[in-house]
Amino acid sequence: MTKVLNNWEDGHWIGQTLEVENGVCALPARTLAGELAYTDEVKAATDHLYALVADFIPKFEWPAYAPLVHAINKLKVEKNAVILAHNYMTPDIYALVGDYKGDSLGLAIEATKTDAEIIVQAGVHFMAETSKILCPDKKVLIPSLDAGCSLASSITGDDMRLIKQRYPGIPIVTYVNATAEVKAETDICCTSSNAVQVVESLGVPKVIMVPDEFLAKNVANMTGVEIIAWHGRCEVHARFDAEDVRDMRAANPGVVVLAHPECPPDVVLESDFTGSTKAMSDYVSNNKPKNVILLTECSMSDNVAMANPDVDFVRPCNLCPHMKRITLQNIYDCLVNEEHEVKVPKRIAKKARRAVQRMIDLPAPGKKGHFDPKAGHKDIRVI
Ligand code: 13P
Ligand code: SF4
Repeated sequence: MTKVLNNWEDGHWIGQTLEVENGVCALPARTLAGELAYTDEVKAATDHLYALVADFIPKFEWPAYAPLVHAINKLKVEKNAVILAHNYMTPDIYALVGDYKGDSLGLAIEATKTDAEIIVQAGVHFMAETSKILCPDKKVLIPSLDAGCSLASSITGDDMRLIKQRYPGIPIVTYVNATAEVKAETDICCTSSNAVQVVESLGVPKVIMVPDEFLAKNVANMTGVEIIAWHGRCEVHARFDAEDVRDMRAANPGVVVLAHPECPPDVVLESDFTGSTKAMSDYVSNNKPKNVILLTECSMSDNVAMANPDVDFVRPCNLCPHMKRITLQNIYDCLVNEEHEVKVPKRIAKKARRAVQRMIDLPAPGKKGHFDPKAGHKDIRVI
């Protein structure tokens, strides 16, 4: 049943009529007043956007989203700002306010290309630091300082200095999911889309890979280079296991299973394809499987589904609590108040930039970005 609500705030009528379905209206109080009211102007400016997210946002909740979307898009123009949105952002952020969307490598490259004065990183803190390292003269903002990462917090600059003492002369490849201080102690960075290529680019028989143990193991299975791994894990991908995959296949005959290389190697072995978030997205767009499972963060399937309405997504997934700290509301606050600015001390930024730039300067990874699920399994040292 549909009923009409009259909205009052602080004893004043604020001029909105909201259609509420099923007796529920989830509007946060702030969207009912002032700049964030669902006015006729906002409605006219945003009505066409609703179709993009109609599968994820019930119609009756749209009046809570539209004013924020409209205000954010206006603020971006007024302040010459861009939003770099990671593939794990929720569909409202990804489809309605993100200017550049992609995996960690893609967003880092976009940061180097933009003319905008302000970069809003709709992602986690290490990504914002990467943008700041690459663009020291730009203002880099993150909507929530709580958007961390279990991998980035698994290793410190002190750990890196100890590793170097213990393994002198062995180059260190650092996954970008690490703090600026850790990147500063490294020879070259990598992302999930170029990790094998980066390791092989060094032309040495042995490297240390930090901080993701599973990424390191998946890389080791793809290369003749000996890998020593750090024991960090992504709390999202480490939770998938091989038996789950077998159960999912049994329950969904013919389903195509795609995994992220932060998953354990036995999960990769049970999957049909493994690659970065962009590689997974490209796989679905290029191959159009009838039904597919993405073993990764939950918003990924939503975002890939928007571009592939003919593909059926089976959705076992794990939420990243850090990525989910980023909301339309705190993106809006971040732009209005130009908070929270991410700064990296010059000395650290200079050293970290060398390692990130060295990675960016490599040619596009191409097929080197994919992990062959059927590659053999190697036991490697984990420190
Ligand atoms: P990519 O988007 O680079 O594949 O990284 C995934 C991830 O876990 C980022 O936090
Ligand atoms: Fe970190 Fe994993 Fe979340 Fe990515 S998904 S931010 S690697 S915890």
